Amino acid sequence: MTSVSAPAPHQAEVAEAATETGTGAGAGTGTAEAPGIPAQTTVPRGLLIGVQLPSPWGAPIRQALDGLLVGEPDIEIVDVSAAEGPERRPRVLLTGPGLRVERPPAWFGDVEWVHTVSAGVDSYPSWLLSAPVVTCSRGLHATQISEWVVTALLTGARQNSWVTAPVTAFPRPTPGALLAGSTLGIVGFGEIGQAVARRALALEVDVVALRRRDRPSPVDGVRLLPDLAGLLAVSDAVLLSAAATPDTHHLIDETALRQVRPGVHLLNIARGTLIDQEALRPALDDGRVRLASLDVTDPEPLPADHWLFTHPQVRISPHISGWAPSLEQAIARRFHENLLRYRSGQPLIGLVDPTAGY
Ligand SMILES: NC(=O)c1ccc[n+]([C@@H]2O[C@H](COP(=O)([O-])OP(=O)(O)OC[C@H]3O[C@@H](n4cnc5c(N)ncnc54)[C@H](OP(=O)(O)O)[C@@H]3O)[C@@H](O)[C@H]2O)c1
Repeated sequence: MTSVSAPAPHQAEVAEAATETGTGAGAGTGTAEAPGIPAQTTVPRGLLIGVQLPSPWGAPIRQALDGLLVGEPDIEIVDVSAAEGPERRPRVLLTGPGLRVERPPAWFGDVEWVHTVSAGVDSYPSWLLSAPVVTCSRGLHATQISEWVVTALLTGARQNSWVTAPVTAFPRPTPGALLAGSTLGIVGFGEIGQAVARRALALEVDVVALRRRDRPSPVDGVRLLPDLAGLLAVSDAVLLSAAATPDTHHLIDETALRQVRPGVHLLNIARGTLIDQEALRPALDDGRVRLASLDVTDPEPLPADHWLFTHPQVRISPHISGWAPSLEQAIARRFHENLLRYRSGQPLIGLVDPTAGY
């Protein structure tokens, strides 16, 4: 394999998320385009890619990627376990959750670019994020998660009566409230938060949001608020869609739960660690939190006897909101797109800022 010049350090600022352009997994660009790697005149045509995609979930991604790489014989893919010999030194690593914690011997210093199949990088070892360039699959889950959120909001507000026989009298109006006119507070206004906001606005919900950086709202009609307390004070439902970082650990704690609107619907699709679950329990019991819809918990899975499973105001899904039938193919296409960009010196999609942690 010919040698390659090391890419210049990337500019780590994650750029503004691009507009979602369609439907279904991967239809949105999911773009956090960044300046990325400058044009590399010495990038070799031959390229060794280390892949760490455990079965069973990794197999369809690998299969889709193999299909995309047909006709590119100068690109070789090796399993990480097969890439540890001194002659096999991948320059690119495609990886998913479950990567072993220790740094692989010998070759890791040669890895110029790491791409994760996840949107968040909180579960990856820190040495991995010290690669010169790290990208993630940000944006590929936004459409399906926004549908999970809309479902949770609607079923949390309205209780339709479905009958299996004629009714003898016109039934009483079903209990519940309208979503229209309510306020949704979105904590973390990235790809997912924005996809949810667009759908909520269509349901005539007022949407306010909080993000880390001091940037304007990327969605017309959504008001950005300067702090969490202000958002909690006005929100009938609060969605957690922020990256899991030290700053967002237990963001929803005892103090925050004293600032919510009484009867709030709390939704979490981000990571379980954003909520202090022990502080949540009394808030549920005294009605400050009317309902908690949780796709993520801490830990995962919860122990079988965990109180969250049986609390009447809690609904749990098993970290599945981000899945869609076409997700694995979308992940492979995203990596392939970035591979083409990498080889031609174009900005990569989904750049991770290792300092910010997402
Ligand atoms: N349940 C699932 O299956 C699933 C699937 C995919 C992702 N996720 C989780 O969802 C998270 C968000 O995904 P995404 O695709 O929307 O990522 P994203 O586009 O990178 O957005 C992350 C958002 O978090 C915000 N943020 C970071 N730190 C913050 C803080 N201290 N306070 C307020 N906001 C903060 C960022 O603010 P700025 O806009 O200012 O940068 C950004 O808006 C991921 O990190 C991942 O943990 C879960």
